[in-house]
Amino acid sequence: MTAAPPSAAYLYERVRRVIPPIEWSAFSDDIDAILALKRERNAVILAHNYQTPEIFHCVADIVGDSLALARKAMEVDADVIVLAGVHFMAETAKLLNPQKTVLIPDLGAGCSLADSITAEDIRLLRQRYPGVPIVTYVNTSAEVKAESDICCTSGNAKAVVESLGVARVIMLPDEYLAQNIAAQTDVEIIAWQGHCEVHERFTPADIRQLREDHPGVSVLAHPECPPEVVAEADFSGSTAAMSDYVGREKPARVVLMTECSMSDNVAIAHPEVDFIRPCNLCPHMKRITLANIRAALEQNRHLVTIDPQVADRARRAVERMLAI
Ligand code: 13P
Ligand code: SF4
Repeated sequence: MTAAPPSAAYLYERVRRVIPPIEWSAFSDDIDAILALKRERNAVILAHNYQTPEIFHCVADIVGDSLALARKAMEVDADVIVLAGVHFMAETAKLLNPQKTVLIPDLGAGCSLADSITAEDIRLLRQRYPGVPIVTYVNTSAEVKAESDICCTSGNAKAVVESLGVARVIMLPDEYLAQNIAAQTDVEIIAWQGHCEVHERFTPADIRQLREDHPGVSVLAHPECPPEVVAEADFSGSTAAMSDYVGREKPARVVLMTECSMSDNVAIAHPEVDFIRPCNLCPHMKRITLANIRAALEQNRHLVTIDPQVADRARRAVERMLAI
């Protein structure tokens, strides 16, 4: 007989600084049910740093940035993976675990970057720039990855570009990430014009206002922000790199120019740091809720599937990245 799962009441201690008791009362049933379902189905939940605190801190088994989720997806010892994040993340987990059941709680959890480019666009780029390697951000569909030479994330983009040993690469689809990496390397980068709908809204004027209103604040910006925003920030890095920066530097006051839940999740681990919280919501990430994670486990939905011919080629591009 298996022991009963811990009650959600005990988990409230983890999140009480960011979730008022009235909100918690709406979560605790689903949390208890999810903990039981995970045991019954031998399931694990992978959650991105942008998931809400009740998901991130109370039901997730593995949390992190896109790179960490991809790496850890390879090591998962479970029958079922529920991806609390967006569709491209679930596809990456499926690519790396073709024999496992991978579920995404809401099929509508997309990404403006993934929607900005198709496999046909990549084939046309190959004709236009023969011989130039194509580095594809993981925020893309499996079909796009399948046409690419290698993938990257915001956490390893510079290393991936430089690993190829060439003078020129195509890096897509995020124009701003490409420009931000181009500023750090001698490799010439040809970009695409995709943008993250969350990060493109931050402006240098926002940062100047923040510095005026909160003297001494450390400003951290995700590299999906426009280059002029990154230029005014004190640090730029992936969601994991921003979280590590707060842990390492322990700024008295900090602002994370990124998705809103990120500050809540990092603030829980660093009560001594004052988080200033202007942020932008990712509507796709916010489609994932405790209720639909529970339904995913109860009803085995929504299955993530990838055409095997696409999957083999897409997997090569992801594995080539993970080997770096
Ligand atoms: P990270 O890889 O930095 O977690 O970013 C993923 C993402 O979607 C950012 O918008
Ligand atoms: Fe895509 Fe931007 Fe949302 Fe990340 S924050 S999932 S890049 S739309």
